[in-house]
Amino acid sequence: MESFAGKIAVVTGGGTGMGRELVVQLAAAGAHVSMCDLSEDRMSETAALAAAAAPASDVRISTHVCDVSDEAAMLVFRDEVLAAHDSEHVNLLFNNAGLSGGGSIVTDSRESWDRCFEVCFNGVRWGTLAFLDALIASDEGHIVNTSSVNGFWASIGPDRPHTAYSAAKFAVKGFTEALVTDMRVNAPHVGVSVVMPGHIGTSIVQNSMNYGARELTDDERELMTVADQMFHDNAPMSADDAATVILDGVLAGQWRILVGEDAVALDAAVRADPEAAYEGSMHEILFAELTAAREQLVEQLFD
Ligand SMILES: NC(=O)c1ccc[n+]([C@@H]2O[C@H](COP(=O)([O-])OP(=O)(O)OC[C@H]3O[C@@H](n4cnc5c(N)ncnc54)[C@H](O)[C@@H]3O)[C@@H](O)[C@H]2O)c1
Repeated sequence: MESFAGKIAVVTGGGTGMGRELVVQLAAAGAHVSMCDLSEDRMSETAALAAAAAPASDVRISTHVCDVSDEAAMLVFRDEVLAAHDSEHVNLLFNNAGLSGGGSIVTDSRESWDRCFEVCFNGVRWGTLAFLDALIASDEGHIVNTSSVNGFWASIGPDRPHTAYSAAKFAVKGFTEALVTDMRVNAPHVGVSVVMPGHIGTSIVQNSMNYGARELTDDERELMTVADQMFHDNAPMSADDAATVILDGVLAGQWRILVGEDAVALDAAVRADPEAAYEGSMHEILFAELTAAREQLVEQLFD
């Protein structure tokens, strides 16, 4: 694909973070964009930003409340998108929505584990299935599935279980890699990319708390709000820059898109010494800034 101008793009999780920035940058490049999310208010903000960034007033932006883990809801979303653009096809599908949860299969609830897996993996699967015919009906299509560095390295540190998210992100990576051949054989005009971001400054911690499997207690909520701020403020890359890397990767036809120097370094380190992947040192590549900030905070609190 040489340009996004005039293309019809679909972005899941367009309310905040990388999804919002993808919507805005696609609109700025002249694409018509439909997004879904759980929050109508945040999508309205994204839509206003996208409309302001668009080069012309006939760029269409539409918002749709939809839970990506619900296959029936995704089919309704698909029908609404085709109606909004009066079209039988879409060109681009960004299966971006995700949240964390279900850290431990031993101590966390079954609901928390399932919620994370169903949003992060089934959301990608239902999105692909819902829009497949419309992508194949296009002259030129592209499926972009967001995995993570946790799609090739199942850890966020030696003392913090991260099982549901890692399992889901490995599944997204495997599914998407398999789609590369499936599309080459059955729909060669539809490209495929798997996105593997490192640590990006978004509100994923807060959103995971809001849209997870259960209400948190006040104490848990307070703790998570601090964690969210630190995760956002100490990331080495912004959501805006991450979206640019993703869109550049799609235009370059890359099937694997690593986002951030930390992701590139971690990919190289895990490949160079897979046996050492879970021995403790690798998480410093990913969370160097965050670890330093956390240590500073602990010092301030307990000095
Ligand atoms: N931020 C990071 O460091 C990081 C790293 C690697 C991968 N990722 C992945 O990148 C993607 C985007 O995350 P982000 O960091 O921009 O987070 P974010 O929380 O800012 O954005 C995710 C969006 O998805 C929406 N969403 C959540 N569950 C949904 C559901 N069931 N249905 C519809 N929408 C839903 C949220 O409301 C939110 O607007 C996710 O798949 C995430 O797992 C993020």
